[in-house]
Amino acid sequence: MGGDKNGRFLGGSEVEDWYAPNLDASDHTGLGKWTQQDIVTYLRTGVNRYAIASGPMADAVRHSTQHWREDDLNAVAVYLKDGDKKAGEKPKPLDANDDRMKLGATIYEAKCSACHSPGGRGEKNIFSQLADNPLFNQPNATSLMHVVLAGSHGVDTDARPTAPAVPAFAGTLSDDNITAVLTYIRNS
Ligand code: HEC
Repeated sequence: MGGDKNGRFLGGSEVEDWYAPNLDASDHTGLGKWTQQDIVTYLRTGVNRYAIASGPMADAVRHSTQHWREDDLNAVAVYLKDGDKKAGEKPKPLDANDDRMKLGATIYEAKCSACHSPGGRGEKNIFSQLADNPLFNQPNATSLMHVVLAGSHGVDTDARPTAPAVPAFAGTLSDDNITAVLTYIRNS
């Protein structure tokens, strides 16, 4: 009915065919690995060493947070870093010999590694880091499917006027192949 679910505060949810990620302080799915400065940089420039804002978050950065005062950005970052951590949330990954993992690895190598690099480290400020990126560990892969199927533009901000983009793969990869490559990335 649109009421708040108090038990799921900061826990993430689906919005307009995207998944707004968990923002608690957990290491695996939350902001545990982001420093206070990572959060401030992301909100002010749209980019940090892990992520580039796209989809509805690009709108939030472009029209709102890039214009905030530094003190306010820092206050939000301190608040989020001080949040709860969920214990025991890291699931056991699929075995590298699983058929889906083998297929996903082949597709990753052919279609993704040129930009995101063979080990998934990406390229600072241009190509998102896929390895160790909590966005890839969310329980819901809607945003990841959205980006790969439809492509996406990262946000442009006053601090970073040139936005990088990821191409759409809906025309070149089947749904099964997209599932396999995302399964591979999420379990690696
Ligand atoms: C031509 C370079 C390029 C290729 C090839 C490419 N990407 Fe990307 N990718 C990017 C850029 C740039 C971004 C950041 C911009 C954005 O998120 O809109 C990105 C972001 C992403 C994101 C969102 C991550 C985040 O931080 O929100 C996902 C998921 C993704 N890519 C998956 C893939 C997969 C899977 C493949 C291979 C099938 C692939 N990409 C191939 C350039 C590329």
